[in-house]
Amino acid sequence: MHFSKGLIVVAAVGVAQAQTPKGFTPAAKAQLDVIFNSTKVNTPGELLSKAATASQPQLALPPSAVSSTETYVFVMLDLDVPPAAGNDTRRVLLHALNTGFKATKQSVAGGDVLLASSEKGPATYISPGPPASDTIAHRYTQLLFKQPSTLEASASDFANTQARIGFDIEGFAKKNGLGEPVAGNFFMVDGRANGSAGAMGTSGAGGARQTGGGGSRGNGTSPRK
Ligand SMILES: *[C@@H]1O[C@H](CO)[C@@H](O)[C@H](O)[C@H]1NC(C)=O
Ligand SMILES: *[C@@H]1O[C@H](CO)[C@@H](O)[C@H](O)[C@H]1NC(C)=O
Ligand SMILES: *[C@@H]1O[C@H](CO)[C@@H](O)[C@H](O)[C@H]1NC(C)=O
Ligand SMILES: *[C@@H]1O[C@H](CO)[C@@H](O)[C@H](O)[C@H]1NC(C)=O
Repeated sequence: MHFSKGLIVVAAVGVAQAQTPKGFTPAAKAQLDVIFNSTKVNTPGELLSKAATASQPQLALPPSAVSSTETYVFVMLDLDVPPAAGNDTRRVLLHALNTGFKATKQSVAGGDVLLASSEKGPATYISPGPPASDTIAHRYTQLLFKQPSTLEASASDFANTQARIGFDIEGFAKKNGLGEPVAGNFFMVDGRANGSAGAMGTSGAGGARQTGGGGSRGNGTSPRK
């Protein structure tokens, strides 16, 4: 049997464009509109400022992706919380777990359907606050799932930052039968003064900003998001 030399099968066809960070699971195929003060996260992974992301974003979906009878649950995670002392693995922080999203009659972002919820929890929104002393920008990942009526989550489960550290989205999704995400997105926030490696060594800048979880800056003994 002979195969012609040089026949290279390029297997790169059909790679689905994920809206969530490379390697993250569960990956989302459809894009969730994440809108901060009328500014949409247009390109998954784009860099935003702390100030721009300080308050909870609005969410929207294309009409074809939304069901008027469905209820949705929103999840936001920081994938890059600095490691605990003596460990070099970065951790996940649950920034938001908000139930009760429904389609509204309001159209935003060029014809997409605004989703709204009267519920702020069970895990209320924590705004991004990556440490000024960090070496990378953090990836803040948003996911929207259909919300089963049996979903079990109460505010007391997420009462403090420690309870949100190491949140296992896959375990949570499995336990609660969330299925695959309906849509997702992500953006980056850089805690360093000007968002570049050149700003290193200026760890004082912004280092004392709101933390929510408290704790001093340092080498990872206290989580900063
Ligand atoms: C965004 O809007 C919220 C109210 O929805 C407001 O509190 C906040 O200051 C605004 N942030 C910016 C950066 O404009
Ligand atoms: C290091 O941290 C990761 C993430 O929190 C954790 O899964 C792992 O068990 C830790 N390893 C050790 C040796 O503590
Ligand atoms: C950040 O950028 C501003 C404006 O370009 C500049 O004045 C300032 O020196 C920079 N700060 C750092 C720490 O690089
Ligand atoms: C981390 O901080 C602790 C307490 O301040 C210190 O003892 C330790 O040497 C530091 N480790 C590194 C790698 O800087």
